[in-house]
Amino acid sequence: MRVILCENYEELSLQASKIVASQLILKPESILGLATGSTPIGLYENLVKMNEMGEIDFSKATTFNLDEYYPIKKSNSQSYDYFMNKHLFSKVNINKSKTHIPNGEAIDPVKECEDYELLIKQHGGIDLQILGIGQNGHIGFNEPDFNLNSVTHLTNLTESTIEANSRFFESREEIPTKALTMGISTILKSKKIILLASGASKSKVVGELLNSEINTNIPATMLKVHPDVILICDRDAYSGVRLGVDIGGTNVKFAVVEGNTVKFKTQTKTEKESFEKLIKTISQQCIDIISQYKIKTVGIGTPGIISNGKVKATNVPFDNVDLAKAFKKYIDLPITVDNDANCAALGEAQLGVGSQYDNIVMITLGTGIGGGIITHKHICDGKTSNGEIGHMIINAVDGIPCPCGQKGCWEQYASVSALIRQATNAALENKNSTLYSIYEENSNQLNGELIFEAIDAGCPVANQVFSTYLDYLAVGIKSIIKILSPEAIVLAGAITLQNDKIITPLRERLKDYDVDILISTLQNDAGALGAAML
Ligand code: PGA
Repeated sequence: MRVILCENYEELSLQASKIVASQLILKPESILGLATGSTPIGLYENLVKMNEMGEIDFSKATTFNLDEYYPIKKSNSQSYDYFMNKHLFSKVNINKSKTHIPNGEAIDPVKECEDYELLIKQHGGIDLQILGIGQNGHIGFNEPDFNLNSVTHLTNLTESTIEANSRFFESREEIPTKALTMGISTILKSKKIILLASGASKSKVVGELLNSEINTNIPATMLKVHPDVILICDRDAYSGVRLGVDIGGTNVKFAVVEGNTVKFKTQTKTEKESFEKLIKTISQQCIDIISQYKIKTVGIGTPGIISNGKVKATNVPFDNVDLAKAFKKYIDLPITVDNDANCAALGEAQLGVGSQYDNIVMITLGTGIGGGIITHKHICDGKTSNGEIGHMIINAVDGIPCPCGQKGCWEQYASVSALIRQATNAALENKNSTLYSIYEENSNQLNGELIFEAIDAGCPVANQVFSTYLDYLAVGIKSIIKILSPEAIVLAGAITLQNDKIITPLRERLKDYDVDILISTLQNDAGALGAAML
């Protein structure tokens, strides 16, 4: 399912009308599946305008509506027959005899459904189906059930649908309790489907749709088996309030995000005694936050490798554990888990310095080199965790051994640990250098800050070490650019706080490449914020 995220209802209606217009332009005799409800009204208004301006032609089109109340008179202002005439059919050059709506006045509703299904089939099926989504996940009037009826059928409306529709009727008694509706398989046979969702009242169900497995209790999840579905939704329907959790070896960070706004951040120490204890303490903190903010979804960023939903990590007690399942024991919300470096990249791409780009690679320089690849604003997912750019081999001949088992991995040359090792070796080889004096003064140890102290003091040895380090860093980045062609590379990690000292010489080394080199603006918060955006 592709998602088109729109800023507001107007943009949603515009995007939907462009798709319907393209369909009609490419195939004037299209069979359109139409929906009623409040959501498609803006779409129909746009189609009416386009038709008036001669941009689209309905004269050869045929339409089939999704559903109709039963029983209901066509003349009833709440019937879908009335709705379609009011919002579309009476205002465009459509041939009325080519429009079809299940007949709410039919004496034999079962036969009416059979005939309707057959008629769609005789027309060769629907080319483009427009759908809304109910707050309970219904599409058409296919309500949540153990068993979903696949073809056009007579159905009972659920209490929640009756409640949601009560706004259109003067009294509750007037609301029909039954409907005639296309079935799930009728809908799935459509060649292309657009699903529209607008407003905060839909954010819970949109979150469930995107995060749940296919299940009949959320009928819209059935659309996940269709190869060409586009969910078009506005920010209110899409975002809700999200909680992101970034599990690290030392701290667990939490962030609450609404739309693009960070509402709250906190962190706790990582409880490493046992898996159960860690899950319980994180869940407890989540439950506290969930009770204060109306959280709709929870995203978890974890270190380690994720394979078939199971996480294996070294610096936290995760030994092939299903994290989503473990948290589900305590938290009754949709939960998504991804690798922490991927989350950081997503955070930067959605809320940080990468937000103006669609395709970025985030490189985190620390003990190793972490990577996250974002294509079209989404994490580029592989079979297991991917974006392990630190383990790209840059020296195949006599490369430095890496704990991963390979030799010559990039992180053995361009991580901060590698820089410290290179600087320590250089200091020991040049005992009259400032770098060596600093090394000695600090109990025979160096760290990133001390190396920059030597550089600031004008030490040529430190300068040479750092220049070679930047060459190594640039070599890896060049490969990444060649392979992925991102619009921007975002660098993160404490070393990048030395902004000008790293970014200017690095840009110089990469000046022949058409890519923006940027420093992360979210830094340590990127993981939790990105987890919230999963
Ligand atoms: P709505 O209804 O567009 O009025 O929100 C959608 C639906 O219930 O399918």
